[in-house]
Amino acid sequence: MNHEKLLIIDFGSQVTQLIARRIREFNVYCEIHPYHLVTDNFLKNFAPKAIIFSGGPASVTLDHFPRPPKSVYSANVPILGICYGQQVMIQDLGGQVSNNQIVGDITSEFGRALLKPVSTLNLLDGWFTESEEEVWMSHGDHVTKLGVGFDVFATSRNAPFAVVANTKKNFFGVQFHPEVHHTPNGKKLIDNFLALSGFSRNWSMNVFCQNIIRTIQKQIGDKNVICGLSGGVDSSVVAVLLHKAIGNQLTCIFVDHGLLRQNEANDVIDMFRNHYNIPLLHADSSKRFLKSLKGIIDPEEKRKTIGRIFVDVFQDYAQKIEGVEFLAQGTLYPDVIESVSFSGGPSVTIKSHHNVGGLPKKMSLRLIEPLRDLFKDEVRQVGRELGLPEQLIRRHPFPGPGLAIRCPGEVTPGKLEILRKADAIFIDQIHKHGLYNEIWQAFVVILPVRTVGVMGDNRTYDYACVLRAVTSVDGMTADYFPFSTDFLRETSTRLINEVRGINRVTYDITSKPPGTIEWE
Ligand code: XMP
Repeated sequence: MNHEKLLIIDFGSQVTQLIARRIREFNVYCEIHPYHLVTDNFLKNFAPKAIIFSGGPASVTLDHFPRPPKSVYSANVPILGICYGQQVMIQDLGGQVSNNQIVGDITSEFGRALLKPVSTLNLLDGWFTESEEEVWMSHGDHVTKLGVGFDVFATSRNAPFAVVANTKKNFFGVQFHPEVHHTPNGKKLIDNFLALSGFSRNWSMNVFCQNIIRTIQKQIGDKNVICGLSGGVDSSVVAVLLHKAIGNQLTCIFVDHGLLRQNEANDVIDMFRNHYNIPLLHADSSKRFLKSLKGIIDPEEKRKTIGRIFVDVFQDYAQKIEGVEFLAQGTLYPDVIESVSFSGGPSVTIKSHHNVGGLPKKMSLRLIEPLRDLFKDEVRQVGRELGLPEQLIRRHPFPGPGLAIRCPGEVTPGKLEILRKADAIFIDQIHKHGLYNEIWQAFVVILPVRTVGVMGDNRTYDYACVLRAVTSVDGMTADYFPFSTDFLRETSTRLINEVRGINRVTYDITSKPPGTIEWE
């Protein structure tokens, strides 16, 4: 796509994605690439209008450390180095970095720090309206000698070179993290960097939609495309976007595994087939899924079984459509960023995520992933541009394996029925109290435990359930939602009165980590 781009070179910081979020908020397009993939050739083709070096866990004081290609410094574009990014730039350009003590026996700075100005700098416009500026630091090393052509513009107690710049070349280095929330004026600094880099800031979701529709049309020509529809926001946006671009060359396949929420299958069919007129195959395979899940209690085995059958069913239906060469998927940017791992080995699999990843190879299809440059909230904006109903756009995420992973122990039709009713009441309560949009995800889990209760004059022996509701920004970390006691009491009463089969309600107050959002 032909628009101004900013390149973020990733050195493995935990918060690199936040840099990208901040920049996109200013209507500037940017991409994150790990340092070892940024070669001279890459740089030439990418043609960034400015570059940011992220922070990272490495140390330039060691024998080997990650660095950008030398050609970044002759690309004639502004560079901002953040934390490790500052240190590697200074080291590369003739300065020095050390981990020696500065104040007493302290060398590092973690958390809140105060910055004092040395002299004015365009990068710091709007800063120091008070005599000191609060920033968030997280460093062990620090710059001790400036590179050629650099001056210092602000200092802190443990970072004498907290803000440095070579103003002739527009190279800037900051020891703190302007991208995090805890640097209150950090956004302004990034705004200043984009301004001095000369971005016209015309990247918007509207422009994105127009560009992507043109690209899809060119890529697909007169071939046919299939798209797996789940009813969630990502696959819905992909389907509507593709339908806009290529009309009836698109067929959606909705695999109904019988593990959906109340009315979900009907809602999806109604919206896409009847409302949008998008050709849709309803692969009603609940019996097949339930049969295969019989007797399985291990969470990973459940996930793998569902994933395997999903691919088989999808393939069966896809073969009914002629001339298919492409498979469209709702992959998002956080899924494609290759995070830099300094630990070496592959990370531990906590849960096998369910997707249709195995399909393209098996069916020799080419992949179309129109959302792979976007973050989740940007996908929601695209959804709005395309006129998708707000109700769908704001819908809580729902996992691919569906209610099966909210049913610890064996999945049975009876438990699923109880779960559907309970889930619908919980969500209804949340809507009634105006809390839906404050919560990232809310659902009920049915436990493989029966407890004794008393209703009227009779003894009951029914299932216990758990309510789970969390706040989160991206699903990576989460905290439980602090419902009022009144809300919990009212919801518990409704659940026990209205759902036959449940006689005890509990609330899960585990954050993530150490818990995960789903129970399996
Ligand atoms: P966990 O349970 O890992 O969930 O904290 C994080 C987010 O991911 C969703 N989730 C899934 N989504 N396929 C999906 O598409 C899956 O297999 C899957 N497992 C978990 C979960 O609902 C939460 O939003």
